[in-house]
Order: sequence, then C-alpha cells, then structure tokens
Amino acid sequence: MAKQLLGPFSEIVTMDRLPERGPLMDERLHVIRDGGIIIDGDKIFDVLDGESFKQVQQLSEMKGSPLEYTAIKRKMVLLPGLIDSHTHMCFAGSRAKEYSMRISGESYVQISEHGGGIMSTVRSTRLASEEGLRSLLAERALEHLLRGVTTCEVKSGYGLDVENELKMLRAIRWVNQSNDLYPRLIPTCLAAHVRPPEFKTDQNYLDFLVNKLLPLVKKEGLAQRVDIYIDKGAFPPDLADGYLFQAKNMGFVPVVHADQFVVGGAAVAARVGAMSADHLERSTEREFKWLKEKDVVAVVLPGSSLGLGDAFAPARRMLDAGLCMAIASDWNPGTAPMGDLLIQASILSANQKLTAAETFAGLTCRAARALGLEDRGRIKPGQLADLIGFPCDSFEEILYRQGSLSPSLIIKGGKRVMRAPNPVGG
Ligand code: NIG
Ligand code: FE
Repeated sequence: MAKQLLGPFSEIVTMDRLPERGPLMDERLHVIRDGGIIIDGDKIFDVLDGESFKQVQQLSEMKGSPLEYTAIKRKMVLLPGLIDSHTHMCFAGSRAKEYSMRISGESYVQISEHGGGIMSTVRSTRLASEEGLRSLLAERALEHLLRGVTTCEVKSGYGLDVENELKMLRAIRWVNQSNDLYPRLIPTCLAAHVRPPEFKTDQNYLDFLVNKLLPLVKKEGLAQRVDIYIDKGAFPPDLADGYLFQAKNMGFVPVVHADQFVVGGAAVAARVGAMSADHLERSTEREFKWLKEKDVVAVVLPGSSLGLGDAFAPARRMLDAGLCMAIASDWNPGTAPMGDLLIQASILSANQKLTAAETFAGLTCRAARALGLEDRGRIKPGQLADLIGFPCDSFEEILYRQGSLSPSLIIKGGKRVMRAPNPVGG
C-alpha cells in the first residue's frame, strides 16, 4: 500500500519531547506550522515541517510517486488521538432516577446503602446477554471515537461473579476485535468493585476472586490489568494490599480506585507499585509524595466530580508535586454519565489552572503512561497513526471552546474513520 501524505495543517501539536512528569508551560509544546505527516500502514512514518512538506508535496504530485496525497484545504490543528485511561462504559441499565435523587440532595453513599449505586447496575448487567452488552458497549465506543478518543480503557466490575465478570470482559474483547469503527479498547478486571451480597465478608470475596476468577481471566487472556475500589462502602486498604500483591504475582498489572471519598487507596497504590492511582479527590501532598516515589501515574476524573457535584481532584497541586497526571472520563452509569472527555478536561483546566500543554499531555502522552503504552500519545515516526484534527487554526482554540469543538478528522491506525463535512479536500 502506498504511503499517505497529509497536509498542510495549521498546526501539528506533536506532544513529543515533553517531560513525563510535573508542570508544563505551553512554550514547551512542539508545534509545527503548515507542516504535514506521512503515514505508512498503521504507523506514522514522518512528520514534516512547513518547508519539507512543500517539497515532498511537489514530489508526490509527480507521476509514479509512491505517495498518495490528501490536501487539507481548511484550517486544521492535528493532535494525537485522545487516550481515555479509565472508564466503566460496559454496562446495562440506567441510573437516571438515582441522578435525580442526587441533584435533589441525596448522597451517593446514602443511595448505595439503600440498594442503589453500583449494585443497581450489577443487577441490570447480570440480566443482559453478552450480545446485548456488546451492542451497548459498541454504541458508546463509537460515540467516544467520534469525540476523538482512539484508545480507551474499559473495566469490568458490574458482574461480580465468575459468569458475569467473564461475560463483561468477553464483550469488551469482542468489540475490540470487531472492526475499525471503535477505539482500541484496553480491558481491566474490576471484579473487586464492591462485595456482592452473596458473600459475607470482603476477605472471602477477594479470596474467591484470586482462586476462581483471576485464573480464568488469565487463561482466556481477557485482561492484563486488575483494579480494586478502595473506599468507605467498598474495600478497605489493608485487604486491598493482599489482593493486589496476589494479582501481581499472577502476572497482572495493578491499578487502584483511590482516595475518592476517604484517603487510604493512594498509600496502597504506592505500596504495591500500581501503574496508576485514579480519582484522588481527597489526596494531599503526603499521598502525592508516596505516588511520586513509586512513579505511580495520578489519574484525575473530572466527570465523576461533575456528576457528584463534588470538588475536582487537586490536579494543579499534583503537577506541582512532580507527578505524571492523566485525565480520564470515568464514563459510568452512576457518577459520570456524560462520558465527554474533552468537555470534562476543559472544565478541569479552567478550575485547576492547568496549562493547555498539561491538559493535552494528560489526554495523550501522559495518559498512555497510565496504561503502560509506549506506541501512542505522540506524533512522531514509529508511533501508531491515531490522529485527530480540529477545525481551527491554533491549539488554544480547542480548550477555549470547552469541548464544543469536535474533531473533524479522525484517523485510527492510518485509516480515516469519519468523513466530516468538508474537513479535507477531495
Ligand atoms: O469510578 N468509585 C467507584 N466506581 C465508579 C462508580 C461506579 C458506579 O457508580 O457505577 C467510579 O466513580
Ligand atoms: Fe472509576
């Protein structure tokens, strides 16, 4: 297949050559004006500055050129595809009634204590067939892709028994393998979300997961990551240590839902050497120091703060403490039903005083670190050709529009997955 040449772009924001942790001024961004890119198969082959682009473009128009040229005829800012490193978007049912109760003043914890919350979604998800779950997930995955998310983590955690956790993970795998119309999905086993009523103690349930479920997840190759929700009303930190160490010994990568309502989870994440600690709304400099020492990525989830009417995680202070901070949507039917990562990140940046560079890094290269992925998140040769183009002439426009500006060009693995009205020539 011929290599593809695309350009000129008003800006190519490469996200290359940036430090992996700590604050980032916008001046650090490597921005190429009027340049282009060459894609070879599913990878980026070259990134061209304005001058080189003009030369290569002329060559591409000569007879017998090995390049297939697509002219970008309108203003467009190119970024790496967004990476959403924390979602629960495989679920059945709706919690709209619960949301109404919450906005009228009832708390998330009160609702959970009365049988609502996570257990309500567990009931609907257990009732759904694997096929039913596949189509619900596929629909949401497509929505996410059209908003510019080209890689997306998806957790299980609404099955809470062997049959239904496997059903969720198999549905995730099916969507991931089905075709190019969805983001690349990264599955995580979150069977330790809450203890289901069939078990009398947390320890019994966690032992059951280690002995019965995780070996099957491993055998079928359904997930390489194991998550646990550590909080009041979920699992206590002391039991989480044992669970994650056992999962780690089985070859899983540990991640943690930490410090959302009470602190305790970030300490576990540091002790077990988790890949990421997510939420962190209640964390302080003490927790940041522990995470930094173990190089645990801090994932903040503005969507759940918006859904709960809660304070945002202290993202500014995390960066100032030298952490690698990623921003994810937490898309779930309870606390974060919106699922629009760019709106959430834009609002977070205004609230937390994040630079555009910090915000975009949290959605691309630093989010890739939260998933342990080195082949994406930057526009540079060798990386996957997962790219999004916004119809504007400078990257500042994107956050300024607070998520109301959608990408008009989306490329996944070198293939254009959406043809928007007039984004490019031809
Ligand atoms: O990340 N905090 C725990 N789990 C999810 C919420 C899941 C739900 O309410 O269904 C979260 O916010
Ligand atoms: Fe979550």
